[in-house]
Amino acid sequence: MSAPVDSVTIMTETGVEVRPARAEDLDGVVACSAALFAEDAGTRDPAVNVNWPKEYGAAKFADALHDPDRLVLVADDDGRIVGHLTGALSGPTPMRPVTVATLGSMYVRPAYRGRKIGTRLVEEFRDWARLHGAQYAGVTAYTGNEGAGRFFERNGFAMHSTVREATL
Ligand SMILES: CC(C)(COP(=O)(O)OP(=O)(O)OC[C@H]1O[C@@H](n2cnc3c(N)ncnc32)[C@H](O)[C@@H]1OP(=O)(O)O)[C@@H](O)C(=O)NCCC(=O)NCCS
Repeated sequence: MSAPVDSVTIMTETGVEVRPARAEDLDGVVACSAALFAEDAGTRDPAVNVNWPKEYGAAKFADALHDPDRLVLVADDDGRIVGHLTGALSGPTPMRPVTVATLGSMYVRPAYRGRKIGTRLVEEFRDWARLHGAQYAGVTAYTGNEGAGRFFERNGFAMHSTVREATL
């Protein structure tokens, strides 16, 4: 596998920098991840442990910094982490003989939304995925998160499959 992205930086029109995360960003990434869980799964999915970022996030994100198959991006406003995106490569497998890049999670702090920071994070993720040989990119979002649905649709992620769940 090729080396992790470590030098690409995109400045948004508001001066917020979109770049790969570094070790000193981990507290900010965990804080964004905790805010995402509280806002998204916390209001939509009682099966999810909303304390996961605080309990396990630091170790998981730290591992990802050294894994060429995983990506952690941050949106940095003069040293303050105001957003993040995680991604991972998988495949090929005998059943699906292609490399797939999965956008695992993304979050932009409410005060920074609507300034295309999310769009820049997705563009950077797509560039990383292509550079690493991925032929497809995917993301899962809750059906009830209509804003995220519109956002992903506008950023090129068409509806492809549906997951159905039943409470037992
Ligand atoms: C989805 C999200 C990352 C977009 O970030 P962003 O920096 O505002 O993105 P952009 O400025 O590039 O695009 C803005 C679009 O996102 C839409 N959007 C989606 N969810 C939104 C939300 N919760 N609040 C505000 N805008 C949202 C806006 O409607 C806007 O579309 P519009 O121009 O038609 O109004 C951000 O809104 C967010 O963090 N939402 C909560 C977490 C979430 O749902 N994450 C995705 C699931 S993993």
